[in-house]
Amino acid sequence: MCGIVGIVGRRSVAAQVTEALQRLEYRGYDSAGIATLENGRLERRRAEGKLVNLQLKLLQSPLSGAIGIGHTRWATHGRPNETNAHPHATERLAVVHNGIIENFRQLKAELQAHGIRFDTETDTEVVAQAVSYAMAQGLGPVEAVAATLPRLRGAFALGFLFAGESDLLIGARHGAPLAIGFGEGETYLGSDALALAPFTDAITYLEEGDWAILTREGAEIRDITGEVVTRPRQIIAAQSYRVDKGNHRYFMAKEIHEQPEVVGRTLAHYVDLAEDCVVLPVALPFDFAKLSRLTITACGTAYYAGLIAKYWFEKLARIPVEIDVASEARYREAPLDKDGVTLVISQSGETADTLASMRYAKAQGQHTIGIVNVATSTIAREASALLPTLAGVEIGVASTKAFSCQLTVLLCLAIAAGRARGTLSVVDERRLVDALITVPGLMAEALRQEQEIEQLAREIAKAKNVLYLGRGTAYPMALEGALKLKEISYIHAEGYAAGELKHGPIALIDETVPVIMIAPHDAVFEKTVSNMQEVAARGGRIILVTDAKAMALTEMETMATLTMPDLEPTIAPIVYAIPLQLLAYHTAVVMGKDVDQPRNLAKSVTVE
Ligand code: F6R
Repeated sequence: MCGIVGIVGRRSVAAQVTEALQRLEYRGYDSAGIATLENGRLERRRAEGKLVNLQLKLLQSPLSGAIGIGHTRWATHGRPNETNAHPHATERLAVVHNGIIENFRQLKAELQAHGIRFDTETDTEVVAQAVSYAMAQGLGPVEAVAATLPRLRGAFALGFLFAGESDLLIGARHGAPLAIGFGEGETYLGSDALALAPFTDAITYLEEGDWAILTREGAEIRDITGEVVTRPRQIIAAQSYRVDKGNHRYFMAKEIHEQPEVVGRTLAHYVDLAEDCVVLPVALPFDFAKLSRLTITACGTAYYAGLIAKYWFEKLARIPVEIDVASEARYREAPLDKDGVTLVISQSGETADTLASMRYAKAQGQHTIGIVNVATSTIAREASALLPTLAGVEIGVASTKAFSCQLTVLLCLAIAAGRARGTLSVVDERRLVDALITVPGLMAEALRQEQEIEQLAREIAKAKNVLYLGRGTAYPMALEGALKLKEISYIHAEGYAAGELKHGPIALIDETVPVIMIAPHDAVFEKTVSNMQEVAARGGRIILVTDAKAMALTEMETMATLTMPDLEPTIAPIVYAIPLQLLAYHTAVVMGKDVDQPRNLAKSVTVE
């Protein structure tokens, strides 16, 4: 996750910018850079590796400008070297960027057709060149950014500095967070409030789609349509910086909203975005081509991630998958092949049952792969290979962002397995990687349904029982949706395979039971529609989660519909996680429950 800092200050800002960057080090980075205005001219210093390298450069050739932007880069497109380090610049402007610009190839080709030359492998340079080109057509900095932002697809945050503009920075938020800080005659931009803590405690968080024009006087914020808007200014208490909730009421809300960013970051670790292929961060100690089956074990939400992955591994890599909850797997005395592979999925990396089943697999002579969020945890340390999820610290007890990052890693691994086993062509791999790259942007789009979901939650809060139904990968999603709702709202909820309905659960359906149909437009969509008809015929109240095109095909009366973006069906579980999480969250909030610490639950279950 890259870090962004910007300061419109009164005296030389280089030291302040690097201090703020230091506070963003926790996000992880592999190069850093800064740009300031020196007598109206843009000057940059950039360095590969740790911030100390940048500081050394600044000692050798100092910058004295009173306005500047800085960046810590976590490489996505292109190697982590000085050339690819941010800020990226043209003669007119410098830009820092966090996230992924999905359509950078198309924009780059357009700009190249206008004779523009590119110096780096990054997607960010496209933003610098596009705004610069708009300015060359006669637009001022603000107008040029306004004209460029709607052309960028993906999930990202941006900070701009312009040559000759000593009292102007522009920041934009589109799927990745950005905060503005207000000082005395100084204004700041930062990826989070923590970065700005040494300078100010007065913070405004930009909302999705917002962009802001910063001067020493303050900031004018505009929404996605260009309307000037007012966003609340908050005073952040010093002790709350470490565990900052942003402008969210609960950590769970913050973590749901962080997903476009952390999934993007996880993707960048597993996918070569320039070459469109999966590149695992570690060499695996076995050959997928030689495996006769794969075993997966985990608990709770992590288990449901594994269940979704079973569909992916079987379809893409044609490898049989055996999966069980770890509390059963550890005592089942299942025969496991020597030199076979067990995948262990865990956010905390400390779950007692998951750890025990991993040790059991090891004792049988299996290789173990840990898909773990806490890199220092026991499972991470004991696994034969670690595939990290880069979700960052998850505080809300209900797992959200760790789940979507687990799915991201698992899909990458299934693609790698398919390639190794010769069951996935290069073309199909490219198609899937292209689809994966769109996930952060699609998640940001799905988050825009929040208001509708909040309304719907008021209805769900009145229910005593809720059913979740789905087919294919939407079946484990139904299980996960039901788990999310029951654990934080305490409403009884069950997930079923939609095809199982008539084998029993249909008896539960009446007008008091909301039925949430998770129905991405995939190969089994028609079948799901038939199951919906069975529910409708019995007076069931359907809440349909699907895309607009599929919705038009159903012609069925529903209690509500949640419109998801159009997508490649394989990636649906990662994007569809958002409405399910938001629905559970808002229902619990309406009911006045303690969302972050539901009764009887612990974040890390280190007992049996
Ligand atoms: C549900 C949830 C739990 C965990 C489970 C496993 O929202 O968070 O079901 O998924 O306790 O925990 P980890 O992933 O830490 O092994």
